[in-house]
Amino acid sequence: MSLVFYRKYRPQTFAEVINQKTTIKTLTSALKQGKISHAYLFCGPRGTGKTSVARLMAKALNCQNRKPNEYEPCNKCESCQEINEGHSLDLIEIDAASNRGIDDIRSLKENVKFPPLKSKYKIFIIDEAHQLTKEAFNALLKTLEEPPSYIVFILATTEPEKLPATILSRVERYDFKKLALTDIIGRLKEICEKEKIKYEEEALRLIALYSEGGLRDAESLLGQLALVTNQNITKEAVEGLMGAINLEKIRHFVDLLNKKDKMKAIEFVNKIYDEGYDLDVFNKEVIDYLRKLLLLKISPSLGNILEKEATEEEMSTLFKQAQNWETNTLERLLRKLVEVQWQLKTSPVPTLPLELFLSEELI
Ligand SMILES: Nc1ncnc2c1ncn2[C@@H]1O[C@H](COP(=O)(O)OP(=O)(O)OP(=O)(O)O)[C@@H](O)[C@H]1O
Ligand SMILES: [Mg+2]
Ligand SMILES: [Zn+2]
Repeated sequence: MSLVFYRKYRPQTFAEVINQKTTIKTLTSALKQGKISHAYLFCGPRGTGKTSVARLMAKALNCQNRKPNEYEPCNKCESCQEINEGHSLDLIEIDAASNRGIDDIRSLKENVKFPPLKSKYKIFIIDEAHQLTKEAFNALLKTLEEPPSYIVFILATTEPEKLPATILSRVERYDFKKLALTDIIGRLKEICEKEKIKYEEEALRLIALYSEGGLRDAESLLGQLALVTNQNITKEAVEGLMGAINLEKIRHFVDLLNKKDKMKAIEFVNKIYDEGYDLDVFNKEVIDYLRKLLLLKISPSLGNILEKEATEEEMSTLFKQAQNWETNTLERLLRKLVEVQWQLKTSPVPTLPLELFLSEELI
């Protein structure tokens, strides 16, 4: 059983790419006409196909069987196969998150000087491009200004607004969109059929909803669920897994409250809000959690009340966490959070009630 559906089901042809119609149309018709740019920028949310399409471009550009007026890579020739297996010498993939410095770009610049070893083009895919340092951008810029004819850069990023204008003006930009709910569900169904996984319709809908338009998250959730449910994905199983993910979030936030880490806590609230989390629900869950700690603080024997709401493992974490709290702090925070719960319904800025709470109470 495979946990890595998102790798196994990476699109191998342009036709298999879901949703990104305009992008695919423009890229493929340029390929047909042989109009190749030397620098592309693929931007858009996580798991929407940027890296997949970058690799497809690389394959198509270097495919030995592709005729002038075609665009699909054959996936059979030596070049296509080497790219599929991840060891093509003429496709260099750089993760800017871990190679962000000037030295890395210098060696890239050296590399640019040499023509491709076996293929027509030497292609650089720079993932998470927004992570490059300013110096690295400057170095890259010089190469982008006058690239040798055999060089193609493909930058990919989730945060294009962090790229300098000088770079933006030198690339051909494509915006990848979140995938529609029905498309994600459709893809999950296809995978279930191929992998002989049984499923409830509602279960797939929940997975799709939860992954917020990103197919990778949906596919990897599907993989985890197939594994824990022994290939029979029910609505309950999905809810269970999501509950566990939520609980992780709440625990993390409660730890930040305990450490009085205002900054991280405010960042965290904004992050989950951006991820589409309902702050109303989040706050209520935090209240529930702190209440449990308070009860255990008053007396461990009150744990009886909680046992029907929490598993054994959860109870032991709760007992441990309770030791780090003062009863009166819990009382104070809980009283305020109940006020926050009301304020959340009417606040003009959705995150503000929690931010004010953190700013005033974490002292
Ligand atoms: N548009 C799409 N069509 C088909 N499959 C997709 C699409 N987008 C994502 N996927 C699936 O999700 C996986 C990850 O996609 P990919 O690596 O291309 O995303 P990404 O946009 O580069 O994400 P990130 O910003 O996190 O790097 C793919 O292997 C594929 O299984
Ligand atoms: Mg990617
Ligand atoms: Zn080929």
